[in-house]
Amino acid sequence: MTHFALRDGILHVENVALEDIAARFGTPCYVYSRATLADAYLAYRQALEGVNAQVCYAVKANSNLAILNLFADFGAGFDIVSGGELARVLVAGGDPGKILFSGVGKSRAEMEDGLEVGIRCFNIESASEMEKLNEVAHANGARAPVSLRVNPNIDAKTHPYISTGLRTTKFGVPIEDAHALYRRAAELPGLKITGIDCHIGSQLLDPAPAAEAAAKVVELADELAADGIMVEHLDLGGGMGISYREDKVPTVAEYLAPVLAVLKGRNEQLMFEPGRSMVGNAGLLLTRVETLKHGAEKNFAVVDAAMNDLMRPALYDAWHDIVKVSRGDTPSETQTYDIVGPICESGDFLGQARSLALAEGDLLAVMSAGAYGMAMSSNYNSRPRAAEVMVDGADIHLIRRREEVTELFAAESLLP
Ligand code: LLP
Repeated sequence: MTHFALRDGILHVENVALEDIAARFGTPCYVYSRATLADAYLAYRQALEGVNAQVCYAVKANSNLAILNLFADFGAGFDIVSGGELARVLVAGGDPGKILFSGVGKSRAEMEDGLEVGIRCFNIESASEMEKLNEVAHANGARAPVSLRVNPNIDAKTHPYISTGLRTTKFGVPIEDAHALYRRAAELPGLKITGIDCHIGSQLLDPAPAAEAAAKVVELADELAADGIMVEHLDLGGGMGISYREDKVPTVAEYLAPVLAVLKGRNEQLMFEPGRSMVGNAGLLLTRVETLKHGAEKNFAVVDAAMNDLMRPALYDAWHDIVKVSRGDTPSETQTYDIVGPICESGDFLGQARSLALAEGDLLAVMSAGAYGMAMSSNYNSRPRAAEVMVDGADIHLIRRREEVTELFAAESLLP
């Protein structure tokens, strides 16, 4: 994370001191580094140099329009999972011809929307969804481009909530059933087979399961070709992990190398759907210590960000480094703190047992919060969602203003 560094004891994002952002926009606030986002995209492009491949950023990781727009300008496509994400990508200037529509339960309306704008492909996850898409396309006088998401029954060895390649999960169709389903798809007038899709999980640090999945996809493509069913692309999904506390994680090139080795010499275009590895290390959550509380057993630092802002620790027991943004004005001694939010749940923590020298009013940065941070935030406890700021060199751009309390209930009405 070269664009996040201490200078004279003060944490900077690129050339901007986080203290200045807090003073201008308040806390909690998500802060992103444009250069880090650019580096992440570039890392994929470089790793895929000379390969016929398209990077389709998984919008769910962070769907802020400014971030989508940045990736669209770089030439990225997008992996979406809802009509809402489709609308965002289009507003942000994404090319419909580079959109993949994933997800286990697309509605008819979402299918129609995707067809209308001419997306690149629908990733289909069941026989029933396939029939439904055929009907919708046929009724609209269209042929929907499809790939089947196959479930290769591979253990991605990640947190069970974000592991998707095992037979026991809801995702994809069993790879053994895929051939028969492709035959059926080939008969349906509303469908045009274009690819094969596979995504086995998220925060993967070992590329071996991904390479194993790629091998199964290749085997299926050859089997289909022998049966006269040709596909134009192979979609290997996303999943590459980032560093949260690990000392060493593979670079994009190191992670992709064994996968690309399996795919070497193929004629199909390759698709990748990275989310976390494009944005995760590019963002942090800036928060201020409201209260220090010394309980019977533990010390708590109650901060103004909470599980509604960053749900990952509560949901997955995920680790995010938490660092002090400056030395602080008040001298304090190092103690062990749970860093908790003001929400009424014991699961409302951002970090546990952290050694920090804290005083009330100190600013903290919760690191590597660019992916699945703001995107998974909520208004629980009627808390307005945080502001989002993008730093670009010495420039600061507010890319989402803080929500107003009145917006939280603007859509509600009293009984007559
Ligand atoms: N493609 C599909 C079909 C997916 O379901 C996902 C993520 C991705 C691509 C992007 O995966 P990535 O490159 O980000 O690993 N909320 C969890 C992560 C959930 C991932 C869901 N699917 C977390 O905070 O760790």
